[in-house]
Amino acid sequence: MNEPKLAPKYGTAAARWAGIGPYYGMFPTAFTDRAVDEYTRPGDTVIDPFAGRGAAIFSAATAGRPAVGIDINPLGYVYSNAKLKPVGYKAVIDRLGLLAEAAGQYRAIAETLPEFFHYCYSPPVREFLLAARTHLNWRRSNTDRVLMALILISLHGKQGSALSNQMRQSTAMAPNYSVRWWQEKGLTPPEIDPVTFLAKRISWRYVHGAPQTSNAVVYLNDSLQYLPRLAREVREGKRDKAKLLITSPPYHNVTNYYYDQWLRLWLLGGPEYPDTYASNCYGGKFSNQYQYRQLLEQAFAKCKPVLADDAIIYVRTDQRESTYRNTKAALEVNFPEKRITEIPRPMPPQSQTKAYSRGGAPKRANCEIDLLLTAR
Ligand SMILES: C[S@@+](CC[C@H](N)C(=O)[O-])C[C@H]1O[C@@H](n2cnc3c(N)ncnc32)[C@H](O)[C@@H]1O
Repeated sequence: MNEPKLAPKYGTAAARWAGIGPYYGMFPTAFTDRAVDEYTRPGDTVIDPFAGRGAAIFSAATAGRPAVGIDINPLGYVYSNAKLKPVGYKAVIDRLGLLAEAAGQYRAIAETLPEFFHYCYSPPVREFLLAARTHLNWRRSNTDRVLMALILISLHGKQGSALSNQMRQSTAMAPNYSVRWWQEKGLTPPEIDPVTFLAKRISWRYVHGAPQTSNAVVYLNDSLQYLPRLAREVREGKRDKAKLLITSPPYHNVTNYYYDQWLRLWLLGGPEYPDTYASNCYGGKFSNQYQYRQLLEQAFAKCKPVLADDAIIYVRTDQRESTYRNTKAALEVNFPEKRITEIPRPMPPQSQTKAYSRGGAPKRANCEIDLLLTAR
């Protein structure tokens, strides 16, 4: 690909919004900007069936390409569509003010939250979060979704830069483990006013306003269920075939996208404990190799009717044997007419391989690889 055309890091609205929000396996924006620039022309449609936080779709949308993504995880949906359908600064600040007024009603209920929440958040933060959890209609309202996304980013992280007691920003640890750790270290939740804290961050995000985006959306759904609907729209002439499929499917046996995000999913209305996510529901860690292969093969098969014959397919994956082998095979089965070029990637700082590699990981664990499919 061509050399990146780098904008100053936070010098434009698009650059400030692209960072919404922390997500495993998130594509670096510079990479998706380049891919969209190199492999499509304005007006060409871009698709990502495992869209995550919507990095590829956002790059397409800010470069004047219609784009459609799908992700099964509500967190990916909120982050993606907050960027793709932003609203004005005042709407978000006004909504924050309404939550501040509502928070007082949650004093009693905040007391009844499990122990974890008492160690993680100060009382005003707990009350505010309960108000946000109850009142923000992130599925339907663009304003509520933007505000929710901006709260989710700060929901946990380093003391001082987040609403929580000391935590990682990327993943929420298990409740019992966290409580023990805070107790051992004598750490207490920060005494902050959540509204002042968030208002400052919202202002930062809007310094250059909201980004201009083309017709783009990420649907909250299972790709296997939703892709046939896109195919029908293509058949009915309501949607153009895509010229670029760019995606990064989940990796085999690396992370459970739900368990590791249980606290953010709680704010979106999920359970107060992560145990529900420990099993293989929602794909789990994609640890069953047969099911993993089926998912990839079927997803790519269902992409075919929405792709132009000369579409470019760009898939970023993990070099570890099972992920790499299954992903490549799923592509070969579905696109035998295309040539596959392999492009090894140096380890990006926030790749899912790096974030979730544990000691003793297989030899090939330190690299990602891009599979580029073009006409022979
Ligand atoms: C590696 S992440 C994609 C990250 C993305 N490239 C980004 O920039 O944020 C893989 C995504 O696949 C999603 N996923 C897994 N199974 C899915 C399915 N059946 N349908 C749609 N999305 C799925 C996960 O929720 C996860 O967000």
